[in-house]
Amino acid sequence: MAFGSLSLFRALLFLSLTASALSTRPYKNGFSPQFYDYVCPQALPTIKRVVEAAVQRERRMGASLLRLHFHDCFVNGCDGSILLDPTPTIDSEKLAFPNNNSARGFEVIDQIKAEVDRVCGRPVVSCADILAITARDSVVALGGPSWKVRLGRRDSTTASRTTANSDIPAPNMDLPALINNFKRQGLKVKDLVALSGAHTIGFAQCRIFRDRIYNDSNINHAFAKNLQSSCPRMGSDGNLASLDPTPAHFDTRYYNNLLSQKGLLHSDQALSTDESTLKLAKSYSYDYDAFWKDFAKSMVRMGNIKPLIGNQGQIRLNCRRVN
Ligand code: HEM
Repeated sequence: MAFGSLSLFRALLFLSLTASALSTRPYKNGFSPQFYDYVCPQALPTIKRVVEAAVQRERRMGASLLRLHFHDCFVNGCDGSILLDPTPTIDSEKLAFPNNNSARGFEVIDQIKAEVDRVCGRPVVSCADILAITARDSVVALGGPSWKVRLGRRDSTTASRTTANSDIPAPNMDLPALINNFKRQGLKVKDLVALSGAHTIGFAQCRIFRDRIYNDSNINHAFAKNLQSSCPRMGSDGNLASLDPTPAHFDTRYYNNLLSQKGLLHSDQALSTDESTLKLAKSYSYDYDAFWKDFAKSMVRMGNIKPLIGNQGQIRLNCRRVN
């Protein structure tokens, strides 16, 4: 009897330890950085190689690829929906205002998908995961921080231009609107300030920042004058200006710029309009470590927005089309 209750006690102890180990496991639902380790160990190195080559060809591509992941995640979660081309049944997000004549890098994603499916021998890697890994590898290729990407996202079978128009933040937003926009995605003010630091790389078009350089008052006068020479009041809509002085380097210059009222977008400069966000921007301006750590953390949080996992969605054969 005594022996029986001891075994029962041991069995219960074992069960409770196992249960607690499982419940504290950092990664659940098969959504983890190791997702492809067994099914296709060559997937991640292949993506890295293609991203590095694309960035080598054109440094801006790193910025464009990072932005694609952001525009994917903010529209019904990170599900590859931004990659779907228009058809009679697909309301393509590519045609939404924030993406039309602006989002770029789709051909690089196509190339990655083709190469990954080839090395894996079958289509096991989702387009949504390709976007997430590509964003990370692009930042690294331009000298920025690295982070572990949880994997196992699956691809959507729908897209929504309407949601892209309403949920991707606009460059004319002020701080309360930006904070609210991020909050609706489950992201905090700190995420907003850290992720806006993505504008340490890449470019924007004249039509996007025209209103700021002619009408804003919280802008450095010489900075505005200089931009006006390549961005007239009318025309030259597609002329580019860099979002910070070093658009091919992932550094802290973006935040330095904000402190001297040289943010290119109204939404960038908005971060300096409140004490709490200004304080964070100031700390990132001189502390690489803090920016890198917080940027990486916030990228993980953004990448985890509403993934399709398990048997939801599908693994597309072609990122531009539903199977
Ligand atoms: C906070 C709200 C944000 C707004 C209002 C915003 C808006 C914009 C706009 C209007 C452009 C220029 C597009 C063009 O001229 O064609 C741009 C470029 C860019 N954005 Fe944002 N953005 C925001 C946050 C982010 C975030 C969170 C990321 C990534 C994590 C990001 C990454 C980029 C990059 C890398 C570029 C340059 C792209 C290129 O050169 O191709 N942005 N953004």
